Amino acid sequence: MKVLVIGSGGREHAIAWKLSQSSKVKSIYIAPGNGGTHLNPKFKNINLIDINLIADFAIKETIDLTIVGPELPLSEGIVDLFRSKNLNIFGPTQRAAQLESSKDFAKDFMYRHHIPTAKYKTFKTPDEAHQYINEQRAPIVIKADGLASGKGVIVAMTDKEAHDAVNFMLVDNKFGDAGAKVVIEEFLQGEEASFMVICDGKTILPLATSQDHKRLLDQDMGPNTGGMGAYSPAPVVTKEIYTKVMDEIIYPTINGMAKDGIPFTGFLYAGLMITKSGEVKTLEYNCRMGDPETQPILMRLKSDLFEILYNAALSQLNSTKIEWDARTALAVVLASAGYPENPKLQDEIYIEDRLISDSYIFHAGTIYKDNKLLTSGGRVLAVTALGNSVKEAQSKVYEVINTVKFNGAQYRKDIGYRALNNN
Ligand SMILES: Nc1ncnc2c1ncn2[C@@H]1O[C@H](COP(=O)(O)OP(=O)(O)OP(=O)(O)O)[C@@H](O)[C@H]1O
Ligand SMILES: [Mg+2]
Repeated sequence: MKVLVIGSGGREHAIAWKLSQSSKVKSIYIAPGNGGTHLNPKFKNINLIDINLIADFAIKETIDLTIVGPELPLSEGIVDLFRSKNLNIFGPTQRAAQLESSKDFAKDFMYRHHIPTAKYKTFKTPDEAHQYINEQRAPIVIKADGLASGKGVIVAMTDKEAHDAVNFMLVDNKFGDAGAKVVIEEFLQGEEASFMVICDGKTILPLATSQDHKRLLDQDMGPNTGGMGAYSPAPVVTKEIYTKVMDEIIYPTINGMAKDGIPFTGFLYAGLMITKSGEVKTLEYNCRMGDPETQPILMRLKSDLFEILYNAALSQLNSTKIEWDARTALAVVLASAGYPENPKLQDEIYIEDRLISDSYIFHAGTIYKDNKLLTSGGRVLAVTALGNSVKEAQSKVYEVINTVKFNGAQYRKDIGYRALNNN
């Protein structure tokens, strides 16, 4: 079978890596891919971004299955486009992807279907938004309605920060259309976890649990990032919490979408806040896998990813099983100097040619140019490893990191610390 993966990050490298282990898969194309996928002879990078050109490519190459990594092409309607051309694709339609591409859509949906989430109101005009903040007071959370590459959420600890965020979005239009509406919501406290499932519109196949680390610096200090590391499983998701998430969030979401006439196909990601008292609230939906959670999750996947996603694309998930490695997988992101504000690009990356078992270096912001591997984005690599415990997986990752060098590389030294404290 011929498979096409859309995207260029660590998530897509991990998806392609896992697909390459399937005996059914003969060719793997990645549009556009990165330096790491370019260097691997199992993959072929295709330099295309425009979804219409990608569809033409899929027809010409008779691609059997396309898998969409990031949210942007989903929100542009790549799934609708491929289906209209009778091409097999795994992902949500443009309407279903609104669960991620519009926070207002998602909140309204959760309220209508009684899915636990923070109290909120949506505003289009600054005056009313400011007044609401004056009534509710900080801490409070301001969210741009649309996609903002992970920068659209401000957790305001003071009223001033909240008012400033509203002005930034509704007055100065700094996010353009994505910030033309803002969701203002109640500040929640607890421990976060990522909960992802695969859905074919009817049947739900839960993936292993995981936890991301959003802040740049150790001890969850510093600015928010796209994610500096992750591990799976997440012990904070106990059996009881797992059941609660399925019953109160996942089933109601999938059933609610079907009831609303927008059946959900694809990866559904619920960002969770788990409170001390064991309550679970939905912080957000994403309509794709998380990055860097994908890297540890897929390292633990024992089943054939191609079979699962092919069956899902054909709405035949009901007879599909999924098996996990019982060990812990952990990923640490190596980011370029200046990330997240001003990532420095074009630094040469040196990776020792040394194989360390049960580990893999997934590429994200890398490019291969003039026989050199260079940094080309904020998050450069995700070093991932398996271990019999969080501690063991962590030690192995840091051992592999010692084989990698580039100028100004920054990474966290404490990925997995919550799980270690949990034990
Ligand atoms: N109601 C809330 N209370 C407290 N913190 C929150 C709340 N909503 C969001 N956050 C914090 O802000 C982060 C980003 O929020 P959210 O996930 O909604 O934004 P996003 O930009 O869609 O993120 P992503 O890039 O992961 O898709 C969350 O991971 C959480 O740490
Ligand atoms: Mg999101």
